[in-house]
Amino acid sequence: MTDIRLLSAVDARNRLSDLCDVLVDCVNGGASVGFMQPYGVADALPYWRGVADSVESGATLLFVALIEGRVVGTVQIGIAQMPNQPHRGDLKKLLVHRSARGKGLARLLMEAAEREAARVGKSVLVLDTATGSDAEAIYPRLGWQRVGVVPDYAMWPEGGLCDTTFFYKRLAA
Ligand SMILES: CC(C)(COP(=O)(O)OP(=O)(O)OC[C@H]1O[C@@H](n2cnc3c(N)ncnc32)[C@H](O)[C@@H]1OP(=O)(O)O)[C@@H](O)C(=O)NCCC(=O)NCCS
Repeated sequence: MTDIRLLSAVDARNRLSDLCDVLVDCVNGGASVGFMQPYGVADALPYWRGVADSVESGATLLFVALIEGRVVGTVQIGIAQMPNQPHRGDLKKLLVHRSARGKGLARLLMEAAEREAARVGKSVLVLDTATGSDAEAIYPRLGWQRVGVVPDYAMWPEGGLCDTTFFYKRLAA
C-alpha cells in the first residue's frame, strides 16, 4: 500500500535509514541533486540530520512516500524566505528510489507538497533541475512552467558540468 506523509522532525529522525537509502540510490543512479559520487550512507546521514533540524525549526516541510511501511520517495519545500517573499516556497529534493519509479509516487509527492504549500500561504513555488534529466520531463506534466536554462550551473555526480533548468508554479489560493 502507498502512503504519502508529512513528517515531523521526530518522524524524520526515526526514518533516517530509509531516507539515506533513497538519497544514496538516487546519487549513485546519476541524479544531480547536490552531491558527488562516490556517495554512501555516511555522507547522507549528516545531510538528513540537517533536514530534520530544519523541519524542527519550521523552515522545511518534508514529505515521504511509503510502500509497505518503507520510505521509497521524498520531497521537501523550503518555506523560510526573506521578509519580502513570504509567499514563495522552494521545492527541492524530489527523490524516488529506482526500485519504486514509474508507479506515480513523484506525482503523489508533488501533489501533497503543493497542497500543503498552498495551505501554509504559499502562492508561488520555484525549483531547478538538471537539464536533460528524467525529472526535467516530469515537471511540465505536473503543471510547472519552464523559465529557462542556466549553463554550467552544477555538476553531474560522476563529474562534468551540467546545465540547470528553472521552473515555477503558481498555486491556487
Ligand atoms: C524524477 C523522479 C522523482 C520521478 O519519480 P517517479 O515516481 O518515477 O515518477 P512518477 O511515476 O510519479 O511519474 C510522474 C510523471 O512523469 C512521467 N515520467 C516518469 N518518468 C519519466 C521519464 N523518465 N521521462 C518522461 N516522463 C516521465 C510519468 O509518466 C508521470 O506522468 P503522468 O502522471 O502524467 O503519467 C525519479 O526519476 C527520480 O528520483 N530521479 C532521480 C532524482 C532526481 O533527479 N530528482 C529531481 C531533482 S530536481
